[in-house]
Amino acid sequence: MKTAAIRQAFLEFFRSKGHEVVPSSSLVPHGDPTLLFTNAGMNQFKDVFLGFDERPYKRATTAQKCVRAGGKHNDLENVGYTARHHTFFEMLGNFSFGDYFKHEAIHYAWELVTRVFAIPAERLWVTVYAEDDEAYRIWTESVGVPAERVVRIGDNKGARYASDNFWMMGDTGPCGPCTEIFYDHGPEIPGGPPGSPDEDGDRYIEIWNLVFMQYNRDEKGEMHPLPKPSVDTGMGLERIAAVLQGVHSNYEIDLFQTLIAAAQEVTGCADRESPSLKVLADHIRAATFLIADGVIPGNEGRGYVLRRIIRRAIRHGWKLGVREPFFWKLVAPVVAEMGDAYPEIRGRQHQVEATLQAEEERFFATIANGMAMLEAAVAELEARGERMLDGEVAFKLHDTYGFPLDLTADVLRERGLTVDSAGFDAAMARQKAMARAAGKFKVNLEAIDYAGPATAFEGYEHLETESEVVALYREGAPVAALEEGESGVVVLAATPFYAESGGQVGDRGMLRATDGLFAVEDTQKIRADVHGHHGVVTTGVIRVGDRVTARVDHTARAATARHHSATHLLHKALRDVLGPHVEQKGSEVAPERLRFDFSHPKPLTPEEIAEIERRILAEVLANTPVAADVMPLEAAKASGAMMLFGEKYGETVRVLTIGSSKELCGGTHVQRTGDIGLVKITLETAIAAGIRRIEAVAGEAALAYVQQLDATLGAAAERLKVARDEVPERIAALQEALKAAEKARERAVERAAAALAEALVARAETRDGVKRLVAQVEVDSIDALKRLAESARDRLGPEAAVLLAAVIDGKAVFVAAVGRAAVAQVRAGEWVKRVATTIGGRGGGKPEFAQAGGGDPARLAEALAAA
Ligand code: ALA
Repeated sequence: MKTAAIRQAFLEFFRSKGHEVVPSSSLVPHGDPTLLFTNAGMNQFKDVFLGFDERPYKRATTAQKCVRAGGKHNDLENVGYTARHHTFFEMLGNFSFGDYFKHEAIHYAWELVTRVFAIPAERLWVTVYAEDDEAYRIWTESVGVPAERVVRIGDNKGARYASDNFWMMGDTGPCGPCTEIFYDHGPEIPGGPPGSPDEDGDRYIEIWNLVFMQYNRDEKGEMHPLPKPSVDTGMGLERIAAVLQGVHSNYEIDLFQTLIAAAQEVTGCADRESPSLKVLADHIRAATFLIADGVIPGNEGRGYVLRRIIRRAIRHGWKLGVREPFFWKLVAPVVAEMGDAYPEIRGRQHQVEATLQAEEERFFATIANGMAMLEAAVAELEARGERMLDGEVAFKLHDTYGFPLDLTADVLRERGLTVDSAGFDAAMARQKAMARAAGKFKVNLEAIDYAGPATAFEGYEHLETESEVVALYREGAPVAALEEGESGVVVLAATPFYAESGGQVGDRGMLRATDGLFAVEDTQKIRADVHGHHGVVTTGVIRVGDRVTARVDHTARAATARHHSATHLLHKALRDVLGPHVEQKGSEVAPERLRFDFSHPKPLTPEEIAEIERRILAEVLANTPVAADVMPLEAAKASGAMMLFGEKYGETVRVLTIGSSKELCGGTHVQRTGDIGLVKITLETAIAAGIRRIEAVAGEAALAYVQQLDATLGAAAERLKVARDEVPERIAALQEALKAAEKARERAVERAAAALAEALVARAETRDGVKRLVAQVEVDSIDALKRLAESARDRLGPEAAVLLAAVIDGKAVFVAAVGRAAVAQVRAGEWVKRVATTIGGRGGGKPEFAQAGGGDPARLAEALAAA
């Protein structure tokens, strides 16, 4: 069975058992700050398990795109070295949301594996959670698996992600006991059955994990029963394909063989077994799917994980001898293999290719120098008989040549060497500290560990609220009070302060406490539902338990609201003018301006920009009321509201209607479109391949911008002494005039030089067949003197012997030029030297042309007499 057929068979099997086939969610788990990338099929159903979200179905099945790179589940460094590690993989799963439980889950799994996939039962082993007698009985009695192949495994090993048969999504969230199905790849492969001392070998491979979701684990590690017992299963598609195709390594399945062949073709690598080909085949899948889901290579967060994957791939191409961008050419084979199951990669193929190509060009510019530095460092290391590369060197490679630490480690691993990653971290921390000292202080939000209740946000309706201080933090640590002059973070029971999210910056303002004032400089979320007010105590003291009046800076908030509403109108106008391919890629909304990043393949024309501005203004002038409606997601969809691709929304959403724009948004907005005032685009530029950025200003900021432009233009008009609208024309005329004047000057200089040469030539005397010319001239450069001497010589012909002198910058300079026929009698080099020497100068040169200088300029006449 081909991989695609296996995926299909799995989904069909569960469809036949009443499961809804749900599309894979995005690799970017929006709305879940605990996750870097989607790493399991259940991620998109987390809130359903917890009872926060409801779906119209109680049974679901998916083929889910997953990435395990960066973050807690990180397999990046092992890819290429093992039979089963991937950065990107597909997880097949079936889910029950309070519907069926252990009995059905186990029977479905057994039926699929032994009947549909026809895997011989005697090759299958099963593990159950040590205390789960119910699961044990279902396997041994109801299914009939021999007891010697059903192994009880406890969770006393403490390893969270190991095969401990108690599965947790993370530190917090849904979890429960699980049962796993193993496949025995046969005695020729070393390794023992699960639970035996040799279980880490490669013989018995887990193919399916069935989790019986029963608890929600909170921050304190306490387990609370879920509203309803549920089921979450996960089967690695690549693993089951290896089993069904009778191969041991995942890289030998049909899908990878096609990609490996494609990688061979673009790299010219003849050795099909090269680990580098596996790396390329794996990494191109991760890169393609991540970029298609909106991740852009960058220097932090998800973007940096993507960059590390791409650069690691490029390095393997480099190792195979490739010296120019090639990796992007593997996108097409991925799309051909997987585009049917994941149409999003087909739709975005060109964007993915362009993004990769740009990233490759960037890295190919530095990789040669970086590799040279690394090679030199390795040679030195080996010469000294050491095995660990200095962290400083690794940091320099990172900082100067863009070598991620894992890339350096990957190169070293091939030589049996390692890198001092603690030293690398130290060097990085040092540099960050220096940057911080030089720049703005930013509180480390991760450091704050708050376990109290959520903040009630009242900032949609009010800008002022009476509330109570529930927690205070100084340098991330909880304190009972903050004193005058101290900076820190305040958490309130309720607040009108908007915390930065959805691109809108956090509010600033003031907290008036019982005995003090706290100036709020920024508001950031500490947890998804807890607002942290950052700032400083300007007067008195603020204590936990204080009653406070929390007051948002009205002016800043109003300016921010204008820019936020303007952003929605801009988004709408961009789609209307440029086309529906325009997708938001990021935005930042502040009191001073707005920034909006979106996909579009080329620069906007001035006409397009003008049209967009006109459309926004038309919406503003219509002065329609802005509406914020909370409604079920389905109703929002039906209303045609714009949703961000890959964004995860809850069952109820907030829909903002602003003029003709309808968009899901949690931000703060104006009351009527007329409140926005003028919107003016100030910048349009590229920030990555296929991604444009627009900056714009609204309201007062737009007026300030226009006034500034006007003042500049006014000053220019005044200087040029013309009306404002004549400025460009006047500048063009001035440029023309300047060019003409420059030409005229050049011609005059040439003419003057020719006239001077002519006059000099008239003074030549002929004696013994040599036309002699010795003269002092006035020129302002040695170059001009040389040109003049040559010109005089050329006019006099082969018999010429010319020596000219001048005082330039207070120094005597001599140049001699002698014609071909005259060199038999006068050699320029010797001549000029002897002349210069009479007054203490020096010089010399060739027989036909020479130069000398120095000596006393007051005695020039004496020298010329000698000449
Ligand atoms: N969520 C479970 C896993 O990832 C099925 O293994």
